[in-house]
Amino acid sequence: MDNRAEGEILSEVLTDAYGRQIRDLRISVTDRCQFRCFYCLPDGEPPLARKDTILSFEEIERISSVFVSLGIEKVRLTGGEPMLRRDIEKLVTAIARLKPKGLRDIALTTNGFSIPEKAALLKDSGLDRITISLDSLDPDNFKDITGVDKLDDVLKAIEAAQTAGLDPVKINAVVVRGRNDHELPAFARFARETGVSMRFIEFMPLDSGHGWNREQVVSGREIRTAIEEQYPLELKRDSRGTETAWRYGFKDGAPGEIGIIAPVTEMFCGQCSRIRLTADGQIRTCLFSTVEHDLREVVRSGADDEGVAEYIRAVTLQKEASHHINETDFVQPERTMSFIGG
Ligand code: GTP
Ligand code: 5AD
Ligand code: SF4
Repeated sequence: MDNRAEGEILSEVLTDAYGRQIRDLRISVTDRCQFRCFYCLPDGEPPLARKDTILSFEEIERISSVFVSLGIEKVRLTGGEPMLRRDIEKLVTAIARLKPKGLRDIALTTNGFSIPEKAALLKDSGLDRITISLDSLDPDNFKDITGVDKLDDVLKAIEAAQTAGLDPVKINAVVVRGRNDHELPAFARFARETGVSMRFIEFMPLDSGHGWNREQVVSGREIRTAIEEQYPLELKRDSRGTETAWRYGFKDGAPGEIGIIAPVTEMFCGQCSRIRLTADGQIRTCLFSTVEHDLREVVRSGADDEGVAEYIRAVTLQKEASHHINETDFVQPERTMSFIGG
């Protein structure tokens, strides 16, 4: 029986085999990055994807449009470093054209590169939100972790993003034992002083150097305890849903927010709403997928929009129930975070 009220149009929502609604498309626009974060791309591997295998802006726009017709509401542009893709704001403009068709939100994940010069332009082009990586507030440690001496530039990028009205500005720090866990209270202070959403992420086995080990994972619980020793927190009421982070405010009412993302010790796969597109046009149904689906081939072989939609629906049904990081037979995916996008 059709329960639709008279005149109501039921729009389609991409749904996987476990009943999870897929609302969030993450598009990696390049696999290149000029940083060498040890938890991601320590050796600076040469990009695997060649120029003609990388999706053009027109292709990304078309694919996004089909995804939006299938119920996608959020698009996040990632990389590699997405700002390395020339004229990225033009892609933002193109994707923003999908807003009247159901897209609600466009976000970008960046290391801060070019943001001081481009924040206002990105905002004017239709970007809603930005996430900037910041793994240390100490210049030497920053260089040690990222391989580049650019702490000041990243701090300027954060300021520029706030000034441009990108809201909220989220800051990502991957917490790794012995590398930056001693900085947790300083990061919390930074959130209070600047008003940003400061998010701490458990280290996941997605690094190209295969250097990950369990001892280096600082659990979400430990992170929270370390912060609460100085700044008591309270869970925000609207926290979680399909989000990755538990979000906390400061009990004393100070500005800023703390987010804790604990994919290793508190898996959130049951609520996953995400699907990913790599720079070379492969769909990944999970960060930890060991297979990819060649959407580029489908698009380039001349499929019409319904053909592309049909392919996406079929691939979505293959989305993994969860990751297997905590199982003994865990296999790290071949592609690293720099290819997949965060
Ligand atoms: P929005 O809700 O769009 O703001 O995204 P977000 O809050 O999830 O933020 P972001 O995209 O910056 O993700 C933060 C980090 O969480 C990423 O850099 C990854 O380390 C991790 N993460 C994001 N999505 C997933 C996921 O689907 N699975 C796992 N295991 N980790 C994820
Ligand atoms: N574990 C957890 N998060 C990671 N990121 C990159 N590599 C890892 C990893 N091994 C996240 C960083 C960055 C985003 C693009 O991906 O937070 O901000
Ligand atoms: Fe979703 Fe895979 Fe991430 Fe789990 S690990 S939340 S299934 S993308």
